[in-house]
Amino acid sequence: MVTLSVIKADIGGYVGHSESHPDLLATAKEKMEQAKQKGLVIDYQVAKCGDDCELIMTHDHGTDNKEIHQMAWDTFVACTEVAKKLKLYGAGQDLLADAFSGNVKGMGPGCAEMEIEERPSEPVIVFMADKTSSGAWNMPLYKMFADPFNTAGLVIAENMHDGFTFEVHDVLENKMIKFNTPEDLYDMLVFIGATTRYCIKAVYTRKGEIAAVSSTQKLFNIAGRYVGKDDPVCIVRGQGCFPAIGEILEPFSKTWLVEGWMRGSHYGPFMPVSEADSTPSRFDGPPRVVAYGYQLANGKLVGPRDFFADKSFDNARKAALDAADLLRSHGPFEPHRLPLNEMEYTTMPQVMEKLKDRFEDIK
Ligand code: F6R
Ligand code: MG
Ligand code: MG
Repeated sequence: MVTLSVIKADIGGYVGHSESHPDLLATAKEKMEQAKQKGLVIDYQVAKCGDDCELIMTHDHGTDNKEIHQMAWDTFVACTEVAKKLKLYGAGQDLLADAFSGNVKGMGPGCAEMEIEERPSEPVIVFMADKTSSGAWNMPLYKMFADPFNTAGLVIAENMHDGFTFEVHDVLENKMIKFNTPEDLYDMLVFIGATTRYCIKAVYTRKGEIAAVSSTQKLFNIAGRYVGKDDPVCIVRGQGCFPAIGEILEPFSKTWLVEGWMRGSHYGPFMPVSEADSTPSRFDGPPRVVAYGYQLANGKLVGPRDFFADKSFDNARKAALDAADLLRSHGPFEPHRLPLNEMEYTTMPQVMEKLKDRFEDIK
């Protein structure tokens, strides 16, 4: 068995929240290389999506392993030191606890992990997002694993025709439910359409094999106040009894709206980009997604293939930029700005307090 762990954190932006500084990424690589030399990880890569540092690693310690999580935490602490020295923006922002307590979950960093029996050939894609929240994976995961208009294999491939099992988390109530598709499709959509509360945590084949896993940590719920967007990650296995690589990428050939963008308080188009282009700039966005593909070879990460660098995503980018123009023309009005109860920044309580005596009953 091999475990693929992706643990990420925003521990300082360069400049503002737009990008990761090379020195910070170099420090992460140094720490990960030490972990590899010690034999703690089989292989690793350090990537970035905007201002988020992504640790992609393979090992044989299983999911939720204390040593792996500790090492990731220590790496982010070391990167925070660099961020502080360079006075990068929001240095250490996602390290919400003062000290590590066994598992990075609930402490700020986002985390997606799967333990698998590596197939004779094991293609996987790691999706990394910036300026959005965990519910952003609901629509693409639904399309990959349940929509025959997206995934031809659901109809014409014998090993996918039975459908999949979705594990959906209620991130407010801390509950989970499993849906089997296609039979539970309509029931499931009632929930996963509400992306702020219900997040697809994982997808399994009907035989119970893990197909996809996402990070569902909600920074807002952890900290009880706004500390930045979740900027989630997601791992998807491809080919064979899973969707083909092209079926996994297909949902991103169109743009759609996700929450996040400026001050985590707006709807914005999700734009597929290469790692190099994951530099949210306009209005701190628009929200970005990077897709790194790997072949696993006895735990070695052969890759990455930077999928969204491909020209076939140009139309999606154009559509996203056009949607950005349309949304931005709303300025402070909904539906560009999130509804009052979902905004991460608000001055409403203070403004209401100031004006309370000026409110009169309407006769
Ligand atoms: C969104 C994001 C940025 C910041 C914005 C204000 O997730 O990170 O849009 O919210 O730049 O940042 P502060 O409040 O740190 O000045
Ligand atoms: Mg940031
Ligand atoms: Mg970020």
